[in-house]
Amino acid sequence: MIDPRRDAILRTLGIDRYVPRADRVLGAPAFVAPGVAVEPAAALAAASVETMDWDTLARAVAACTRCGLEATRTQTVFGVGHRQAEWFVVGEAPGEQEDKRGEPFVGRAGQLLDAMLRALGLSRETVYIANVLKCRPPGNRDPKPHEVEACQPYLQRQIALAQPKLILCVGRIAAQNLLGTDAPLGKLRGRVHSLAPFGIPVVVTYHPAYLLRSPGEKRRAWTDLLYAREVLRGHRA
Ligand code: URA
Repeated sequence: MIDPRRDAILRTLGIDRYVPRADRVLGAPAFVAPGVAVEPAAALAAASVETMDWDTLARAVAACTRCGLEATRTQTVFGVGHRQAEWFVVGEAPGEQEDKRGEPFVGRAGQLLDAMLRALGLSRETVYIANVLKCRPPGNRDPKPHEVEACQPYLQRQIALAQPKLILCVGRIAAQNLLGTDAPLGKLRGRVHSLAPFGIPVVVTYHPAYLLRSPGEKRRAWTDLLYAREVLRGHRA
């Protein structure tokens, strides 16, 4: 049986797992020996994410079978926007609409995110938007640790390629996973974090889905956005 958690740890360590033929998931390499021709999906899965360019990375994500969510996804949700954007927005994971359309933040929460960006003079074309997870967790449950661990190299590589001036993290789950902390959202808002190993400033605000449920907090979210803009402009530490 495939143990996704063990598999993710082995992959993180750069160790290829031998999989008996009957257990193989289509697109995942069993064992890739040097000089052996493999099908493209397997070659992508075996390649090092840290050195991929944007297009190779997008193809690797589309073929990914690292954590088990491929069994329930319609498609992967890579990211959208300007690949050299100054602003990089990080959300949690695709929901139902995103899973159907293959684009992050296209449901009701996405419409609010668009409005928040517009209020700053930005749009989904001028920022880059990606999630911690590239696949929808069934029923929109919280991401599991092994899923975050398996998906983390993709987001890290997106950030490394984009080299944004600022990361805006929306919601507790995105913030905790990106920053590697279990601090509550209230403790993470209102200050600048630094994303290791890049040293890119990170500002945390509410998730737009939460703001839809608690519109009274929109005012505080707006304060966060103005704060993020000040940080980006270098006026705030
Ligand atoms: N919520 C998220 O965090 N990301 C999406 O893409 C959609 C909803």
